[in-house]
Order: sequence, then structure tokens, then C-alpha cells
Amino acid sequence: MKGAPDRLAGGSLCDLSLRGGLIHKRYAGPIERGHEKLIREQAWFEMVPIALRNTGSPLFPSTSLQLGGRGRRRTTTLLVETLDRETMTKAILAGRVDRRRAAGWFRAALDVLFGKIYGMRTARVRNGLAEGNQRQRLALATAGLRSSTSLGDLFGRETIEINGRALAGLPHLLQWASSDTTAALLTQPRLFAIHGNLHFDNILIDPDRAPHPSLVSFIDPRGDLLGALYYDLAKVMTSAHSHYDEIHYNLYTLGRPGPGRYELHFRPDHEPTYAALLEVATASAARFAHYCGQEPDDFVRACLACEVIHTYSLAFYHLKRRHPDLRRVTAYLLIACLLFDKATKWIEQDRPAGAYGHRLLAGFPPPAPGASPGGAGGRFGRLAAESKSRSAIEGWNGAA
Ligand SMILES: Nc1ncnc2c1ncn2[C@@H]1O[C@H](COP(=O)(O)OP(=O)(O)O)[C@@H](O)[C@H]1O
Ligand SMILES: [Mg+2]
Repeated sequence: MKGAPDRLAGGSLCDLSLRGGLIHKRYAGPIERGHEKLIREQAWFEMVPIALRNTGSPLFPSTSLQLGGRGRRRTTTLLVETLDRETMTKAILAGRVDRRRAAGWFRAALDVLFGKIYGMRTARVRNGLAEGNQRQRLALATAGLRSSTSLGDLFGRETIEINGRALAGLPHLLQWASSDTTAALLTQPRLFAIHGNLHFDNILIDPDRAPHPSLVSFIDPRGDLLGALYYDLAKVMTSAHSHYDEIHYNLYTLGRPGPGRYELHFRPDHEPTYAALLEVATASAARFAHYCGQEPDDFVRACLACEVIHTYSLAFYHLKRRHPDLRRVTAYLLIACLLFDKATKWIEQDRPAGAYGHRLLAGFPPPAPGASPGGAGGRFGRLAAESKSRSAIEGWNGAA
């Protein structure tokens, strides 16, 4: 289908290329985490028991690591066996699976995770997990994001407006996210062998066949050998609930009609499929909670808190790409504010959190008349088209 993403479009800081049946996933930049992520990814694959790897169907690709250079010339490359499968995201966006099939594949993937992967390793909680996942990530991201003058409009405001709705701004989000209450929410009694990067562009399926667990593979794990289970559901929710795929593949429009006021809209084409995936994800919350011995409501609260922090930190990593897309960074920060609004309503006011609810932007007013999300015409479409070039982004951010 026209507009379907390239086969090798990824989400990390790495360069990806295909040579001799191997995907070369290479990082040569200045951020330590870029190298570390690949080294840990390899370690994660190596920790998979042989019995689980040789099941006749590749649950994971074979991988090996190449380290080169030193200092500023340092390169880290993960060589990954190419599997004859497609990610769920790319299959959905190319129209190769419909909503029913997509939901079926996601259920199959969850069956594999619960049946084979989570139980590979487990341990009682280490001290400092919440610290590492929460305050350090926030501090690192904040230092980076604040250094971008283009994001000043978002960081300097107590409140912002998204699609006409007033919301608490980033200063409030940061205070809440680094609070002891949030740390307590994120503390879990037991850790498991989570995937850690569980979104639909890291789940490989065979789009031409009926969904079955034996045809699911996983790529691109975060690399933490143990982690809190809510991290996986939170990561899935970034795409199922919070529009990660639409932002990543440019299926959105973003405008700033005035200081502190933003318009963020998504192409509706894939909405029914993502709504179906959200239903599966929401229904799986009780299974996740049961697996780690938590009450479902508490588990979902932790998941929401984790997603707020994760999305904020994702904005930072996208700012640190070689060619940062400031529209995308801004979109993630707006998503973080929207999630924060949902999280505080549900967590602090003690509303039933059993369901994640509708997709994050569902129910928000559609674009104003004359605007054309996804199209080229109209005030709104023009902003989207202009902001594709770097200078136009700067002009746009500097306006008003
Ligand atoms: N083993 C594989 N077999 C088939 N396709 C793959 C494989 N590994 C990666 N890909 C494709 O390349 C994309 C990027 O790879 P990934 O490891 O997820 O990198 P990133 O960390 O940048 O997201 C994936 O979304 C998928 O489309
Ligand atoms: Mg990936």
C-alpha cells in the first residue's frame, strides 16, 4: 500500500541496513545509552535458554555483536538474522491485516509472552528499581529537553491547551512523576523476564496466515534481564492507547495556533484496528496483574504512571537523534501531558482504573472547520506540510 513504512524503519537511535540476509543495527553516536542498548540487547538474547530457541519456529532471531573503534570513533553493531516475517505495525499500516486479524495476532503474542518468556527468569525486587526507572530517567530527559529553546513554550507554562482543552503543563507533570507517591506506585515485589520494548513494531508475525503463537517472533528487547511486568503493558499501551505508531509514521498533524495552545490530530484510517488492539490490551491487564500477584487496578495505575514517564523520556531520545524532528518531539510531550491528565484523574481521585478507557485522543474535538488533518490544504494542513523542513519548524516554534 502507498505510504506503508519501509521494512527497516526502526524506533531507536541506530542506523539500520540489510546485508547478506543480516540486519546491521549500528550505533556510532555520542550517547552512551546508544551503545549500551545494543550490548544489552545481545545479552538478553543470549540469556534465552537453548530449549526455547530451538523450537522449530524462531521465537527470536539469532544475533551477534561487533564492537569497533574507540572514543569518538566507537561503533557498536548488532547483526540480526532476518526473519521472513513482518512487524504488526507495518502489516497494519500496509493494510495486510484487518482489525480482527490484528487482535488475533496480539492475543497470540500475549500467549507466547505468558507461556514462554516471562517465566524464564524471576527475582524478588532489588532496591532502587523505581529510582532507576523514574528519577534518573526524568532528570536525564529534562536536562536534554530543556536545553532546546524550541521547547521553551512547553516547559515554561503551568497550563497548556490541547485541541481546546486546558491541561496541567510539564512543570506539574515533572513534580508528580518524580514524587514519592509515584515511586511507591512503581515499586513491585517481583521482577520478571520482560521484553521491555513491547510495542507492535517489535512483534513479528506472518500476515498471510491465520494468527497462531508458533508464528510470532519478538525483536528489539530493551535488554534489561529483569523488569517490572507493568513496563511491558505500558509499552504496548503507547501504541494501542497513546498513538505511538501514528506519530512515528507521520500520520498526524500538529499546529500551534498561539502561545501554549496546540492542535494534535490523527489520521482516522487505522483507528478501528488500534481500538481493537486497545480492547485486547485492556482485557489483558487482569492477566498481567494476576501473574505478578497485584490487584488489577493497582497494576493499571502503575502502568499509566510508567507510560507518562516513558513517553516524556521518549521525547528526549527523539530530540537526540541525528536529525531530530521537533514536531515529533513536541507531539510526544503533548501525549505525555494528556496521559498525565488521565493518570492523575484516575490515580489521585481514586477512580476505578480497571480499564484504560478509550484511545487517548478519542472524544477530543475534531480539527476546526477548514483544517485538513493529513491533507495538504487549509491552515492546519499547511502547518503540517511546512513544518517538515527544519527551518520551517524553527520558524513555527519561534512564532507568536
Ligand atoms: N529479525 C528481523 N526480521 C525481520 N525484520 C526485522 C528484524 N529485525 C528488525 N526488523 C525490521 O527492522 C525494524 C527495526 O528493527 P529494530 O531492531 O526494531 O530497531 P529499532 O531498535 O531501531 O527499533 C523492525 O521494526 C522490523 O521492521
Ligand atoms: Mg524496534
